Amino acid sequence: MATDNPYLAHLKPKRGGKSKQIVDNPLHGLLARRVTGEQVREALESDVNPFTMQSHTPQHKKILEARKKLPVYSQMDEFLKIFSKNQIIIIVGETGSGKTTQIPQFVCYSDLPHTKGKMVACTQPRRVTALSVAQRVADEMDEPGTTFLNYMTDGMLLREAMNDPDLTRYSTIILDEAHERTLATDILMCILKTLAKRRSDLKRIVMSATLDALKYQKYFSPKHGEVVPLFKVPGRTHPVEVFYTQEPEPDYVEAAIRTVLMIHRPEEPGDILLFLTGEEEIEDACRRIKIKADELTSQDPDNIGPFICIPLYSSLPPQQQQRIFDPPPPTRTPDGPPRRKVVISTNIAETGLTIDGMVYVIDPGFSKQKVYNPRIRVETLLVSPISKVSAKQLAGRAGRTRPGKCFRLYTERDFMKELDEQTHPEILRSNMASILAKMFIVSPEFKCSNEILTIVTMLSVQSVWMQPPSQRTEADPAKHMLTLRGGDHLTLLNIHTKYGANGQDKNWCWKNFVSARALQEVDNVRLQLQCIMEKFDIDLVSTGDSNKSYAAIRMALVCGFFMQVAHKEGEKGSYLTLWRRETGLKSTGIFVR
Ligand code: CDP
Ligand code: MG
Repeated sequence: MATDNPYLAHLKPKRGGKSKQIVDNPLHGLLARRVTGEQVREALESDVNPFTMQSHTPQHKKILEARKKLPVYSQMDEFLKIFSKNQIIIIVGETGSGKTTQIPQFVCYSDLPHTKGKMVACTQPRRVTALSVAQRVADEMDEPGTTFLNYMTDGMLLREAMNDPDLTRYSTIILDEAHERTLATDILMCILKTLAKRRSDLKRIVMSATLDALKYQKYFSPKHGEVVPLFKVPGRTHPVEVFYTQEPEPDYVEAAIRTVLMIHRPEEPGDILLFLTGEEEIEDACRRIKIKADELTSQDPDNIGPFICIPLYSSLPPQQQQRIFDPPPPTRTPDGPPRRKVVISTNIAETGLTIDGMVYVIDPGFSKQKVYNPRIRVETLLVSPISKVSAKQLAGRAGRTRPGKCFRLYTERDFMKELDEQTHPEILRSNMASILAKMFIVSPEFKCSNEILTIVTMLSVQSVWMQPPSQRTEADPAKHMLTLRGGDHLTLLNIHTKYGANGQDKNWCWKNFVSARALQEVDNVRLQLQCIMEKFDIDLVSTGDSNKSYAAIRMALVCGFFMQVAHKEGEKGSYLTLWRRETGLKSTGIFVR
């Protein structure tokens, strides 16, 4: 039960007259956390935007009509009732039912966070989704971006929780895409569970696209007490016909390209979503498909329609990611062959991101996954088979607009026999030591905590290197110029120092093929981590002499990653870990030369 007293929303207009506008505010008189669906709909239909006190734009009305068609929208009354009565709710609903875009808005209308100086947080495992959803919701709410509804990555909220364990800024926290089981979301789930005692006023919502929601329900329900409610959103999916290959495919990229072209020629209108494992593979496939499609079009322009291929992966700049929402090129004549858009994506489009109009899905059966080998204590990203649950999610992406088709580039027998039921949660595939404290603690001893802070931050954001495929020849020498012989960690520090010395100049970044956006994020995250260090009384110090500090940094690194320290046996010998003297250490080890 809600423990705070309901109170009147005292809403002040942002500008304009006083008393009249207060009366005119569509939210005036609503009781926070007691708001009904009818009241919200009235506010949504009103001419005045209650959050800006400006008139609603015609665009708002148009988007509202589209929102009304989402399955979540028709359950607004029921959701608001459950929200009023409970401190924690688990929501399960198919991808595309409107959970991510609508539920946080419903929460805002009921919770009225802005009236108590609080915020609603909604976490996403991926930056791409956080950014694109924030933009979409800003459009829906008719506001460039609210100060009380915050879409953020789960990593951001986790960092905030380290600094402010009670998460005092928030009145409601929504953990979205919980089924992805990312490390940060799993840890946040545990934090939210324990927080219930200290923050009885904090409402918590966990949203998932798969039925593992039952697990969360069990996790959050007290042993002896009322079970946490599970709110189900019906799907809006059409049937999807699934095809398998007769024989295993020796080269799934080749097979995927063939399948795209095979669909494009005879199939009905509808866009194609092809899943591949990473940036290079995607860019390469885009290039090859384009060449083949151009060839086909020139051979048979009357039967082959216009075609566009759009890549999507997380290190792509946001404007380029937005291209996935562009319509396909126009048909040459009204009754000409169908036009088509092909989006080639990593598994970021598996659940979080909805691209309307997708009818054909191609699933090669692989994705890049973090794998931790506890024996040699090394984490690597490996192209690994996906799970059955993932394969079903991918197929589901084809049935959003109308009945769809999913082409699995593996045999039915492999699906049944070889694929795991579920992807193992990241927490079981990670080196938990990376939740990165020993190095911090020892760093002042070596007088390099300032530098270690920078390195840790650089490691925690996406890669700062930019390698546009078309400019490889220019990018490689630029990378070489910034690389230090002392190793990746010192190279990262070097980039940050040079970036600072050039006045955080975007042009400098551009010329050196490093991402200005990633470096800006480094500065933000660094500031947050600095607060945490201050809180734990870890001094921020530097040696002041770069040669000395390089040696000191390497000593601090070795102390922090003591489990991964290896030394070379003889001139040609392999690396041997000092811990248990095992061989085979590869990429992420720290080598004592
Ligand atoms: O979270 P869930 O998968 O249940 O759905 P959602 O992300 O809230 O998406 C609901 C609908 O909003 C989609 O089907 C899209 O039509 C629209 N949407 C959009 O147009 N642009 C976005 N960036 C996100 C959603
Ligand atoms: Mg979602």
